[in-house]
Amino acid sequence: MQKLTINTPSVTSTIYCGEGAFKERTPLLKGKQLFVVTDSNVYRLYSGLLRETFGDVSVHILPAGEKSKNAHNLLKILADMLKAGVTRSSTVIAFGGGVVGDIAGLAAALYMRGVSIVQIPTTLLSQVDSSVGGKTAVDFNGVKNIVGAFYQPYEVIVDPVFLTTLPKRELRCGLGEIIKYGALDEGIYKKLIAQKDLFSTEFLESITYDCIAHKAAVVCADEHDTGGQRKTLNLGHTTGHAFELYYKRKSHGEFVLIGMIYEIYIARRLGKIEEGYARNLVGLIKKVLPSIPAYPDASKAAEFAKYDKKNKEVTHISLIAPHSEGESIEITLPAEEYCSLIRECSREIKEKRA
Ligand SMILES: NC(=O)c1ccc[n+]([C@@H]2O[C@H](COP(=O)([O-])OP(=O)(O)OC[C@H]3O[C@@H](n4cnc5c(N)ncnc54)[C@H](O)[C@@H]3O)[C@@H](O)[C@H]2O)c1
Ligand SMILES: [Zn+2]
Repeated sequence: MQKLTINTPSVTSTIYCGEGAFKERTPLLKGKQLFVVTDSNVYRLYSGLLRETFGDVSVHILPAGEKSKNAHNLLKILADMLKAGVTRSSTVIAFGGGVVGDIAGLAAALYMRGVSIVQIPTTLLSQVDSSVGGKTAVDFNGVKNIVGAFYQPYEVIVDPVFLTTLPKRELRCGLGEIIKYGALDEGIYKKLIAQKDLFSTEFLESITYDCIAHKAAVVCADEHDTGGQRKTLNLGHTTGHAFELYYKRKSHGEFVLIGMIYEIYIARRLGKIEEGYARNLVGLIKKVLPSIPAYPDASKAAEFAKYDKKNKEVTHISLIAPHSEGESIEITLPAEEYCSLIRECSREIKEKRA
């Protein structure tokens, strides 16, 4: 088990990562009043483990899926916390994927203006990304993550044991964020390129730590996303989020992979990425998601990129694109040009397939 800390002016958040982390760390939570938030799939698989570990605790079970990450369910969690007698000295445990982590994190931030939260991420995506860094949110009025808060968990317990029950599709989603880290961090990129089977359990276990270490360093430097460093973690996300809002059918991580393909195309067309590097990155993405959708109405979907929080003006779209090994670049372009490049890219994908 490895240990990492995020020190911010307000809090120290400790991350324990590796085999055995759950068994070693959870006994230390006993004796506190706990309130667990999880989802229906995770509860079905791990209700026995939860009872065995925490005894007879209050558990709020969300219906599984992104649709649950909404304001209505946030209020339901808060109502249950009140009913369960949660106090300032209680601890909320987010036991599940990114959906559970984001909504439980926001509930913990709001309840009594803040109660402690421990994140126990159970998907690859939440282990490598969402459980670390303190961004919490719900989707609202059709806009993703638009209502939220920065609220650091005081502990994150990342144990690969939970990946054993994860369907391959969910591993693919986690790999979406892992490849994003590869585009930001030379060390991670080299490991990805050298690895034959990206889905191998041993590989995922070791790369998880690297991704968390990258994110922890970025969060320490720019906790509230104001200094520019944290913005880099949105690589692939401007287009990914826009497509996610419009098409809905796939999951966040899959849209990150698709978003990276479209944004690499834009960087190529604008001469902002090294050609060989672009080819290698596309190759990596296709190893994880062999079929990239050539959405015929992609430019319509791209309109949603206007809502991206990175944009300084409504008329322009800002995105973080890969540039060279370990280097990313911010590209800002008029919304119309962005939409037209997205349309071109979808045409190219379609032609290559034909
Ligand atoms: N806060 C952040 O910094 C941040 C970063 C990236 C993504 N996110 C958010 O994370 C969310 C996506 O997270 P996700 O991909 O984990 O989705 P998710 O939480 O919906 O989990 C995916 C699916 O896996 C199931 N599942 C969870 N653990 C399992 C296990 N161990 N075995 C079997 N099934 C399991 C869930 O029930 C669900 O059906 C999005 O809402 C996204 O916006 C947040
Ligand atoms: Zn993401």
